[in-house]
Amino acid sequence: MKGLFITFEGGECSGKTTIIQELCKVLEEKKIPYISTREPGGIDIAEQIRGIILDIKNTAMVEETEALLYAASRMQHLKERVIPALEAGKVVICDRFLDSSLAYQGYARELGMESILKINHFALNHLPDLTLFIDVHPEVALQRLSTRNKTDRLDLEDLKFHQAVYEGYEAVCKMYPERIHRVDGNRKLDLICKDCISLVLRKIGR
Ligand code: TMP
Repeated sequence: MKGLFITFEGGECSGKTTIIQELCKVLEEKKIPYISTREPGGIDIAEQIRGIILDIKNTAMVEETEALLYAASRMQHLKERVIPALEAGKVVICDRFLDSSLAYQGYARELGMESILKINHFALNHLPDLTLFIDVHPEVALQRLSTRNKTDRLDLEDLKFHQAVYEGYEAVCKMYPERIHRVDGNRKLDLICKDCISLVLRKIGR
């Protein structure tokens, strides 16, 4: 494949959305062909699945269903949006991917990394070329979350869950040390953006 697949990972309120927006501005300025997308979602079917997963009414959803829905949304998004863009030689910037399922469902929901890898078997052939993990301490994240409206089912989780997600990401970083690059997310946002942009440009070779 000719393009480059770059993903962003992190717990809640890690600033990924703003970082990706700033990165996209630079890619545009440099006329680098790219798409920016997100998981779960990014295309119609996957956005519909996102709606089911995150619906605040669906508190009865069991962990296994949640993990399978993320995997289903991932495959649709991968085949319909990510792979065609990579084949067209574009840089694909994606907010979350398989590592989120490993940290949230595999570790924090205690389904186990092996189960998550198994149900995401098809996606394993398409791992990102580079992943930037925005490393924000769970206490800082929860503090930021407390100032935001609770908009989805995962926003209702407590500090223990966010700590578990953080530990999950630490485990995922150890599983893929070559691919995942840690960025200190406890600093000012403009410094974090600067670091992320230079890491991405270096990977692209610009
Ligand atoms: P977002 O807040 O980055 O839009 O992501 C939506 C929520 O979905 C967030 O709480 C993380 C969660 N999530 C998982 O639990 N597993 C996954 O595989 C993905 C992609 C997201």
